[in-house]
Amino acid sequence: MTKAPVECGNPRDEGAGFRRSLGEFATGVTVITTTVDGVSYGLTSNSFASVSLNPPLVLWSIRRESQSFAAFESCSHFAVNVLAHDQIAVSQHFARSGPDKFADLAVSAGAGGAPLLNDVVASFECRRVQTYEGGDHLILLGEVETFRRYERPPLIFAKGRYAVTAEHPEITALATGGVSRRVNAEGEVLSNLLIRAYSEIAAELEKRRMESGLGLSLMQARLLRAVSTSRDSTLEALLPELFLDFNASANVLGSLVALGLITVDDEKRVSLTAAGETCVQRIVHHARANEAMLLEGITEEELATVTSVLSRIVARRDHRTHVRKSDTGQ
Ligand SMILES: Cc1cc2nc3c(=O)[nH]c(=O)nc-3n(C[C@H](O)[C@H](O)[C@H](O)COP(=O)(O)O)c2cc1C
Repeated sequence: MTKAPVECGNPRDEGAGFRRSLGEFATGVTVITTTVDGVSYGLTSNSFASVSLNPPLVLWSIRRESQSFAAFESCSHFAVNVLAHDQIAVSQHFARSGPDKFADLAVSAGAGGAPLLNDVVASFECRRVQTYEGGDHLILLGEVETFRRYERPPLIFAKGRYAVTAEHPEITALATGGVSRRVNAEGEVLSNLLIRAYSEIAAELEKRRMESGLGLSLMQARLLRAVSTSRDSTLEALLPELFLDFNASANVLGSLVALGLITVDDEKRVSLTAAGETCVQRIVHHARANEAMLLEGITEEELATVTSVLSRIVARRDHRTHVRKSDTGQ
């Protein structure tokens, strides 16, 4: 049975609820720019949409009260700059009303002089072909003259907040032959949910590690980290940290020895070389820098609870290992 709506009503009476309901439709974020009489204008917009492939048409709408309204109403061209995941500041900058948003900003000129921003995901240089009345907005239709696409993750706007894309767990599970095809977390066995959350974070971190040129596989990075936290251990002792069988771990170890990041002494104790130490520092720095983005949307309170629960589970395992070692007199 469909659940009762959280809110419902006539948009003329319930403006805030109407806006929140519209905000459930996730979009990308664009900055739309133009130059009229030598002056450049730009504003953040998420009303951008594709309309037609042949001819290539796109649309967006501008609020009549925007300071740049007159410029866009009369412009011959505009450029749509689709923002990347790390461009929240750019979005905020162009969401503020006011003149001269381009001071100190490196841009290049697109069709009709419309500014093209750097580091975007895609851009569309458009000739304005038509406008339509749209209540308190004006709808602008543009014919795309030139498009550009870059290999970068996009910025998302949903529920009134910025977000990033993540592959749907169901898709990841199907691709990896993973543990569960169910998406709904309600009623999920906790251990299964933890594995899925872990693979989600690990896959995203690995993607970013590759993009940043760190160039190590997930398993290589994990083994390096394990060696750095359990110094002078043998590979067997490190196995619980690696979630791999011995042979697979030995292969990963061999690849790290070949890269000059790890050495193994006569007693089979594994340690980091100076290059390995530097590499671990870079991995940790990278993970820290990306963690904030991965955990976006999770409140500090929720995070504190998750951290505390996970730490207690790990501490129990450490405690058991310690007790076993004492039992055998190690
Ligand atoms: C994510 C986001 C999407 C927005 N989308 C639009 C839009 O589609 N049309 C619009 O007129 N304003 C939109 N705005 C608001 C404008 O960016 C904002 O009103 C801006 O100050 C207008 O600049 P101006 O007054 O200098 O023209 C959006 C703002 C944000 C943060």
